[in-house]
Amino acid sequence: MSINNFDDYGPQIEAMASDWLDRAERNEIVVGILGLGYVGLPLADAFVSRGQTVVGFDVDKNKIDALHNKRSYIRHISDEKIARMVDSSRFSATTDFNAISKVDAILLCVPTPLNEEYGPDLKYVEDSCRMIAPHLRKGQMIVLESTTWPGTSEEVMRPILEELSGLKAHKDFALAYSPEREDPGNENYGTTDIPKVVGANTRGERDMAIALYSKVTTAVEVSNLKTAEAVKLMENIYRLVNISLINELNVVFKEMGIDTWEVVKAAKTKPFGFQAFYPGPGIGGHCIPIDPFYLTYKAKEFGVSSEFIEHAGRVMRSLPKNVVDLAEKNLKERLKSDLTDAKVLVCGLAYKKNIDDMRESPSLHIIDELRARGAEVVYHDPYIPFVENFHEHPSMNGMKSLELTPENLEEISCVIITTEHRNVDYVKLAKLTPFIIDTRNATGDIYANFTDKIIKS
Ligand SMILES: NC(=O)c1ccc[n+]([C@@H]2O[C@H](COP(=O)([O-])OP(=O)(O)OC[C@H]3O[C@@H](n4cnc5c(N)ncnc54)[C@H](O)[C@@H]3O)[C@@H](O)[C@H]2O)c1
Repeated sequence: MSINNFDDYGPQIEAMASDWLDRAERNEIVVGILGLGYVGLPLADAFVSRGQTVVGFDVDKNKIDALHNKRSYIRHISDEKIARMVDSSRFSATTDFNAISKVDAILLCVPTPLNEEYGPDLKYVEDSCRMIAPHLRKGQMIVLESTTWPGTSEEVMRPILEELSGLKAHKDFALAYSPEREDPGNENYGTTDIPKVVGANTRGERDMAIALYSKVTTAVEVSNLKTAEAVKLMENIYRLVNISLINELNVVFKEMGIDTWEVVKAAKTKPFGFQAFYPGPGIGGHCIPIDPFYLTYKAKEFGVSSEFIEHAGRVMRSLPKNVVDLAEKNLKERLKSDLTDAKVLVCGLAYKKNIDDMRESPSLHIIDELRARGAEVVYHDPYIPFVENFHEHPSMNGMKSLELTPENLEEISCVIITTEHRNVDYVKLAKLTPFIIDTRNATGDIYANFTDKIIKS
């Protein structure tokens, strides 16, 4: 195995770094952020709030217009925050990529989804490189923040950037990678509280990236690009494997009449060597169900097996169906009814609590499965009042969150809680519907009063 040593890149990058460090010291670095979504927008806010000047770029004109009107399009980011950012006069947003030449750092926060064969889809990364390359100038630094397989910066980005700009990476412009660890809706850890890993292939480029990210948080250096790329995948694979494991244990424990939630609660009193993970209806969001398979894809190229990750993926994909099986079984046993005669309320569309992001949400697979088995499905989600223009899952478009009135609940055959949002009246649901499948222990506090009606999945 060879670990690249790029430290022979020579004097050009060192001169560039020296100039950059001086300008960083004087707060003169202008930061360009490409992709103003769940990751890019809070990152822009972090730089602006720490006194830096930011230009935001996005291909979505609606987002740019919203920002000009001081309006947030992400629920957990307030309009006030956007107004503060815009009013600071240190922030501007545009769809015009000519402005790339005016910024010093270009941070790419674009999507990295899976394609139809469950392989990496780097189209957004490639497109953004093609869009910025004609405007590149010497002395700039490009940092990929999107999650991807180790090698992407050198093997995918570098050739596009060099070919279309006529400039050389590690000589004329700097290339770094810094994985995004944003956790939307996390009230304890925001962008400026989470250390940022940075990697680049030369000492000068690492110094440039560290000087930049130190403006907003603690920068943690690693020795090269692909190590930094691997850090993010390791973090997300760790979560996928452990969440899948707890769900596998949950199936076993349930058969044995053991409450997994009680087991975890007791196990986590061990002060070392154990981290709590919880069972659920599946795994959602733009990261955990996707990123691990960027590594399995790349591992194949090296002829290496990643069976552990593949198995975790199979467990993950089986979970929504298990939830529907449980609902069907209980309908038969309790109401002598079938899914074809049932109206099922799915409580929670978002993939996790207290946010409005429904990308890859297990609720979507549960709704599909319920419909495929003939059920009528409605949903309630206080964070997603209606669904429109949801290209990822068009069959959801047009649905509206059901108001939890006694009249509406009277028609419900069963409730499946898929997201443990805080502002849902679970007592009302338990009182006014025949039974609840609770996949998230959302009813933990009231469970003892409704043991006959609540089934923990
Ligand atoms: N959402 C999370 O919680 C999270 C956490 C950590 C890492 N990540 C990673 O960060 C990356 C971005 O994720 P996100 O959730 O912010 O995605 P997002 O879909 O919310 O935002 C991406 C933005 O990029 C824009 N965009 C697409 N192509 C573009 C282009 N060529 N030029 C400029 N803008 C373009 C889109 O219009 C969109 O506004 C992904 O790789 C993801 O895996 C996401």
